[in-house]
Amino acid sequence: MADHGVRPGGSGRTDGIPMIPALRWEEPPEGPVVVLLDQTRLPAEESELTCTDAAALVGAIRSLAVRGAPLLGIAGAYGVALAAARGFDVEQAAGALAGARPTAANLEAGVRRAKAAYDAALAAGGGPDGAAKAALEAARALHREDARASERMAELGLTLLDELRPGGGHRILTHCNTGELVSGGEGTAFAVALAAHRVGRLRRLWVDETRPLLQGARLTAWEAARQRMAYTLLADNAAGSLFAAGEVDAVVVGADRIAADGSVANKVGTYPLAVLARYHHVPFVVVAPWTTVDVHTPDGASVEVEQRAGREVTEVAGVVVAPLGTQAYNPAFDVTPPELVTAIVTERGVLSPVTAEGIAALQGGA
Ligand code: MRU
Repeated sequence: MADHGVRPGGSGRTDGIPMIPALRWEEPPEGPVVVLLDQTRLPAEESELTCTDAAALVGAIRSLAVRGAPLLGIAGAYGVALAAARGFDVEQAAGALAGARPTAANLEAGVRRAKAAYDAALAAGGGPDGAAKAALEAARALHREDARASERMAELGLTLLDELRPGGGHRILTHCNTGELVSGGEGTAFAVALAAHRVGRLRRLWVDETRPLLQGARLTAWEAARQRMAYTLLADNAAGSLFAAGEVDAVVVGADRIAADGSVANKVGTYPLAVLARYHHVPFVVVAPWTTVDVHTPDGASVEVEQRAGREVTEVAGVVVAPLGTQAYNPAFDVTPPELVTAIVTERGVLSPVTAEGIAALQGGA
């Protein structure tokens, strides 16, 4: 596979560090494609996957070559555009894309948006070409809007951290991977830490390794190193002693789905951090674009948590570590109840305390 490395680009970044090309649409003479940076191979290899149809994109979503809630939404939307542009069955492609992973609300929302644009253009007599163009424009708009949301969340998130801890630098503990690799912009939780870093107020980014698939060790540490941030990697089970030592000023994480009551589904291992944070009187902050909020999911119990293959637990980086035949429990996400969440930062504003009424008010203010 060709190694294309990272490309310069992105939105107004002045530090000379190239943006990570997590996903892009290209139109070579053979027909349109969606090109992904294969996240399963990072950080060892920066290689790309070229998807020529929605089925390939579904495979990439399932294997986590492309991942993270906001980027899943963007991928889903481009997947619909790809099916339309290549003359595949758009209805079938949209269904397969939306169902590729169940927990991130953004995926279904992204697919729905592009499909709605496609259907509307068809209904208006635009024909298959016009409808394909409309789907692509919807995907591009979502991509741009996510970048803008990311910028706004970074501003609001840093202001919030400064209010919670006036005058001091921030020692932020984060979980999973929430930077450029998951976003049209600089990400969610990671973008807040990056904003703090840029103004000299990040004392340390504590990076949970994030077992079983090591998104923290492989991806967040890679992104933090590229940005020359002060970061330290820890095994997930070291978090408790880190809190006990008074080394954490705030937990800042992303989300895959936020329910109408403010329950937060995020990478498995997030809920124990929220419990630890409450015990140690440390703020627990969730950063997510509004596309992650699903008011049709009433509460945490209603969130469908993806269950993944047991071998992701019985193996570490492809090496079998458990006795043959060992059964494994492998939920990809857990749910944190709203009462453990200090604040939810979205591009629409900061919600604190986190209540169903607050979510409804932000939803209404769309
Ligand atoms: O299984 P993954 O790697 O897709 O899980 C990603 C996460 O849990 C992120 O924390 C979440 O999507 C928020 S990122 C903006």
